Amino acid sequence: MKFFIDTANLAEIREAHELGVLDGVTTNPSLMAKEGIQGKNNILAHYVAICDIVDGDVSAEVIATDYAGMIREGEELAELHPNIVVKIPMIREGIRAIKYFADRDIRTNCTLVFSAGQALLAAKAGASYVSPFIGRLDDASTDGLLLIEQIVDIYQNYAFDTEVLAASIRHTMHLVKCAELGADVVTCPLNVITGLLKHPLTDIGLEKFLADYKKVNG
Ligand code: G3P
Repeated sequence: MKFFIDTANLAEIREAHELGVLDGVTTNPSLMAKEGIQGKNNILAHYVAICDIVDGDVSAEVIATDYAGMIREGEELAELHPNIVVKIPMIREGIRAIKYFADRDIRTNCTLVFSAGQALLAAKAGASYVSPFIGRLDDASTDGLLLIEQIVDIYQNYAFDTEVLAASIRHTMHLVKCAELGADVVTCPLNVITGLLKHPLTDIGLEKFLADYKKVNG
């Protein structure tokens, strides 16, 4: 299972990378805006800065919603670095764009996926990754993890190459459940990745080991 971090914050990306478990990064226009990255040149330079930190796939999202615009932006993004994956929204023109890029060996991540039907369409078009947003489904009183299960089943039934990238992950149990269900990738905030470290019995156990050592060794 691959661990991606869902942020455009370079310090957080570095921290996750230093932990030694980071396989890639996903960004979106909201995450870029949160870091105050504005203007086309700064945005493109920021993607390159992310690629310089992590040796893994980095999703960079197009802003255009028309076919020609998505192709133009996607080609520009793909030329930035070999690890860039062009993130395309799950809309009609987006599916056409994913097919265009698949035919040219440019990798894509189909984002804003909220149903199994959308995920099937993305795979048919040749998306490299599909991003179901499980937290946002949970927010809307719908079982986000059930969607992961459905998509994993469907992709296995037909041996699609598209990888299931579980997104909008809010807590460690989302991540653990995605692992149980066979999601290929999880993308989550840094605190969810580091949250996996935590268990009070680990802390208590370590404290006792060290205390016992000290008793005999001083
Ligand atoms: O990158 C897309 C997705 O992970 C967004 O998550 O928390 O804004 O629903 P969230």
